[in-house]
Amino acid sequence: MNPVLEVRGLSVEIPTASATLRPVRDVSFDLHPGETLSLVGESGSGKSMTALAIMDLLPRQARRSVERLRFLGEDLAGKSAGEIGRLRGAEIGMVFQDPMTSLNPVYTVGNQLMEVYLRHKNASKREARERALFLLDKVNIPDPALRLCQYPHQLSGGLRQRVMIAMALMCGPALIIADEPTTALDVTTQSQILDLLRSLQREFHMAMILITHDLGVVAHFADRVSVMYAGEIVEQASTDDLLERPMHPYTAALLDCIPVPGSSRHGGKLRSIPGVVPLITSGDQGCAFRRRCDHAQDVCKNAGIAMRELSGGHKFRCVLLPQNSADVAMKNHA
Ligand SMILES: Nc1ncnc2c1ncn2[C@@H]1O[C@H](COP(=O)(O)OP(=O)(O)O)[C@@H](O)[C@H]1O
Ligand SMILES: [Mg+2]
Repeated sequence: MNPVLEVRGLSVEIPTASATLRPVRDVSFDLHPGETLSLVGESGSGKSMTALAIMDLLPRQARRSVERLRFLGEDLAGKSAGEIGRLRGAEIGMVFQDPMTSLNPVYTVGNQLMEVYLRHKNASKREARERALFLLDKVNIPDPALRLCQYPHQLSGGLRQRVMIAMALMCGPALIIADEPTTALDVTTQSQILDLLRSLQREFHMAMILITHDLGVVAHFADRVSVMYAGEIVEQASTDDLLERPMHPYTAALLDCIPVPGSSRHGGKLRSIPGVVPLITSGDQGCAFRRRCDHAQDVCKNAGIAMRELSGGHKFRCVLLPQNSADVAMKNHA
């Protein structure tokens, strides 16, 4: 089956007075129809910047380079700003962390939902209103006709996030990019919203990129995971493989920070990773995690740490042979 999205060698550079920042470095992944891929990592890992780079929504001073960027087989990298603009909101739906910044406070919920549909589809106002009512009902908002006439501030945080999801689905997208969609919500609402996203994704056969800092969310909702650190994907695997057999010390450290249900690693003491994610500039080389890594050695300072691959598509970017690797077959050695 052809992938919905193919990303190869995606990088972002931001020139500043003192150095060139490299918030996204050589990111590659495929997303298949109906699949949920999670981008996970601490705050500042470059997850949002990766999503913005795919959508061509980077800050003005940022420069993107990419070897291959295809959506439903079509080259995105060569498209004009106008063409990408037409895809966003129509073929690709986006849900962000804070619905208050994405919803316009001066227009009613109904106006904003209908506007998306009218902009992208050759439809009448009546059809747009019917579509909005249908989707408000789909995202379990009681009394959709009343909500259509209300303004964003009249809705709770949870309801606003449901409206954002409805808006992302208005035009029947093939791909949803959800960037920390529940981080601003309380825990009960979080799981309701994630359950909702998952059931809608199945019903409408959409692929999803789920961006989160929370491995607990990954464990419940993702089919595959890309772990990001300092702008780079350091490990990529099916969710089960990643939780059972983390190969990169950063993934292992993240797992030790969080009680993951169903993982053989729970039961031990929870810890935190000391220090913060570094900002990588063009002069830096070697493993970006080495200063926080319990296993770091001299070899970790070397440039160009390649991805290594196990059977089953499990990849990781570490030169050390992990402790639990004795019984796994390496596909290639770096
Ligand atoms: N407009 C900007 N200019 C310069 N650096 C930025 C800008 N936006 C984000 N960054 C930096 O890029 C890095 C990645 O940020 P981001 O993608 O937002 O991380 P995440 O979403 O994983 O928390 C961070 O170090 C952040 O400080
Ligand atoms: Mg972010």
